[in-house]
Amino acid sequence: MDGPDRTAAGARATPDGSGDWGGPPLPPDELAATLLPPGRARGLPAVAYTSDRVFAWERDRFWRRDWVCLGRDATLAESGVQAGLDVAGAGVLAVRDATGRLRTFRNACRHRGHELVARGCAVRRSTIWCAYHAWVYRLDGSLRKAPRFDPPPDTDLDLLPVRSAQWQGWLFVDLSGNAPPLADVIGDLDAALAAYRPGELRVVASEEYDVAANWKLIVENYLECYHCPSTHPELSRVQRTEGGESFPATGRWLGGHLDLRNSATSMSLDGAGPGWTFPGLDEDQARQVRYHLLLPNLFITATHDYLVTHRLVPVAADRTRVECEWLFPAELVVADVDPGYAVEFWRTTNRQDWAACESVQRGVSGGGYRPGPLAPHEDLLHAFLVRLAAAYQSGGPLSSTGSAASTEPAR
Ligand code: FES
Ligand SMILES: [Fe+2]
Repeated sequence: MDGPDRTAAGARATPDGSGDWGGPPLPPDELAATLLPPGRARGLPAVAYTSDRVFAWERDRFWRRDWVCLGRDATLAESGVQAGLDVAGAGVLAVRDATGRLRTFRNACRHRGHELVARGCAVRRSTIWCAYHAWVYRLDGSLRKAPRFDPPPDTDLDLLPVRSAQWQGWLFVDLSGNAPPLADVIGDLDAALAAYRPGELRVVASEEYDVAANWKLIVENYLECYHCPSTHPELSRVQRTEGGESFPATGRWLGGHLDLRNSATSMSLDGAGPGWTFPGLDEDQARQVRYHLLLPNLFITATHDYLVTHRLVPVAADRTRVECEWLFPAELVVADVDPGYAVEFWRTTNRQDWAACESVQRGVSGGGYRPGPLAPHEDLLHAFLVRLAAAYQSGGPLSSTGSAASTEPAR
């Protein structure tokens, strides 16, 4: 890290690297300016984006003790499919068993810890097989066979289960097993997205980006369009960059909408689209681009004809992997509509956003950054920072309010 690594007095990393040293990751006086009311508040200090210790603390409190999205469950549709997934550096093995049930385990063999499926990879087999010494597990995680070896009797050597749940086609895990129900996190986001039927949409394109920026900078960037006129000329030609409203929200999400320009019929480079609209949208919604951030890692952008999502996987204090997916309704897929109009548009926008976030990362890492005032257009960003600062002070997690959604437990 280039930046200073200042933490609260007495703070120290634990030997296991969990960062669970007991104290807040940032001293209260460093957060005071961020907690001021809108209009007077400032951003976070540089250390929030550059410190390995802060990153380790967040990884422990936000990512490994709470619900995190692991992507679409449709990629695990077939019986026997096994995928190696990543929760901020912790491996999860997701398996569709023979009964159709989606199961999740720690991705570590009970012998000496070899990964069962390499991260980012997927296989399809009738058993779970460790490539190191060939121990074999059933799809329910129970140990079936250890070659040329009889493990001690009465020793549980089944794979360690991980709590998981599904919502609208997305798979979530809670590594701690102690987080409140996922429905508390979703809150009324379920109702806010109902007309788009996200559970029925199909992934028609997917791209991954390795972004040299802290995960929070990518979140902050998503939460304001103050940067749009200067950073996104193409987007600004088809969507208004101000004049929208923030959504009231229960649960652990934030969002707001902006309108399409009158000259545009879709979020595409030339403003043209297939001329189709989700049937459940009202007249206003049909002209809106609706942005939703489900903390900590899923962005859902809903337009009247498709959804585009971004899913963050933090890798280091200054590095984040971003998976972008385009979700189309069956009507457009069946009509053989080429998703290129949406893919090209967001590919262009994504690259502009990542370049901006990486530039900010360099700026806050160089020692010359002092937290600046937030503009009125950055009210949602401020709401995120307040939630974050409160979590830093309380010891986490990122808070939720209320409960409304129904979620389907995966196990
Ligand atoms: S570590 Fe898996 S069989 Fe040895
Ligand atoms: Fe942007």
